[in-house]
Amino acid sequence: MNNDIGVYIHIPFCLSKCYYCDFASFANCEALIEPYIDALCEEILKNSEILSQYNISTIYIGGGTPSYIDAKYIVQILDTLKLFISSNSLKEVTIEVNPNSITKEKLEMYKEAGVNRLSIGLQSTYDKVLKMIGRAHKLKDFEETLNLANEVGFSNISLDLIYPLPDLSLEEFKNTVDYAISLKEKNIKHISIYNLEIHENTKLAFLLKEGYISLVDEDTEYEMYKYLKDTFETNEYHRYEISNYALKGYESIHNLKYWNQEQYLGFGSSAASFFGGRRYSNLKDVREYINNIKSNKSVRSECEELDLLALMKEYVMLNLRKTEGLDKTKFKRKYQKDVYDIFSEEINELVKDGLIKDEKGHIMLTDRGLEVANLVWEKFV
Ligand SMILES: C[S@@+](CC[C@H](N)C(=O)[O-])C[C@H]1O[C@@H](n2cnc3c(N)ncnc32)[C@H](O)[C@@H]1O
Ligand code: SF4
Repeated sequence: MNNDIGVYIHIPFCLSKCYYCDFASFANCEALIEPYIDALCEEILKNSEILSQYNISTIYIGGGTPSYIDAKYIVQILDTLKLFISSNSLKEVTIEVNPNSITKEKLEMYKEAGVNRLSIGLQSTYDKVLKMIGRAHKLKDFEETLNLANEVGFSNISLDLIYPLPDLSLEEFKNTVDYAISLKEKNIKHISIYNLEIHENTKLAFLLKEGYISLVDEDTEYEMYKYLKDTFETNEYHRYEISNYALKGYESIHNLKYWNQEQYLGFGSSAASFFGGRRYSNLKDVREYINNIKSNKSVRSECEELDLLALMKEYVMLNLRKTEGLDKTKFKRKYQKDVYDIFSEEINELVKDGLIKDEKGHIMLTDRGLEVANLVWEKFV
């Protein structure tokens, strides 16, 4: 039996709130940082029994902006987790880093503490766009961060981009993609490029609704998609998930756990977990989270027990996110049933519509399916 488990750590603090962001992240809460980290470490210790029964193979420190807080807190968290880590089980330790909140000292402390992968949020290479979406940095800050990361010896770095963004022409977007691939020599081994999601109640939604900014039309967005996909792929960044491209061997081990429906535990406010057939998440409110830990109350906000059918549906959907798709043999091994016995109607219809294909033991999205994946998910909800 696979005894590996992933750990997600949520750091909910940011320097300022980006206009598009709907994550559980907050600015101007400096006084909460220290009590929060103490509470988070206490939450880890409260789970000692579970943690000591599993091999922690990946740790992902996300946010928010983990690099915004003092690096001593990251060390404190990793030291707490190390109580449960056997020497050779840990494969990947990622931390999300924002340009403008990083120093060489912080990076050295991360490395010393065992971090072996950085994920840097750039989003756009144009300062005018960064300003328009409320990012607290410029392109030159990113370049400094990347140079420092290389100086300190990080050789596995991921880059985050978003498209389409306001005020960006097709030509400018192509320059951004070309710039991203030129960073291969600076150890950018992985590129996540997300389709912009416009969340209600964000400043971006307001600016768009009021007509202060506008996005490109659908045809231009499609041109952007084609360009990024073709350019990344011809430059050896192979697409392994809808929004993720990597050089061979540099796919995110932690994120693959999500798509392979493997177990992970999340610690900190709003952190999500999948464990024992249940999905649950922690309280979003940072103060409430700290108070509940202190007074020995539960920090869970939601918990969903998935029955067998729900687990199988979810397994299919998550695996279809990967370009290699769903391995039919693995499905059978996990659920003791042939995937066609359960989902033949859905699969046959999607094959007929040209959105998925069944090839070499795998069911996967076609090129068309990758473009309109939502139509595929609809069949399994
Ligand atoms: C957990 S977030 C934050 C990471 C880090 N704080 C940063 O801002 O770079 C991870 C990534 O999600 C993406 N993201 C956040 N909000 C988004 C949105 N509304 N639409 C598309 N992508 C988004 C960004 O690329 C971001 O880097
Ligand atoms: S820095 Fe990251 S987490 Fe914080 S507000 Fe911006 S996108 Fe959201």
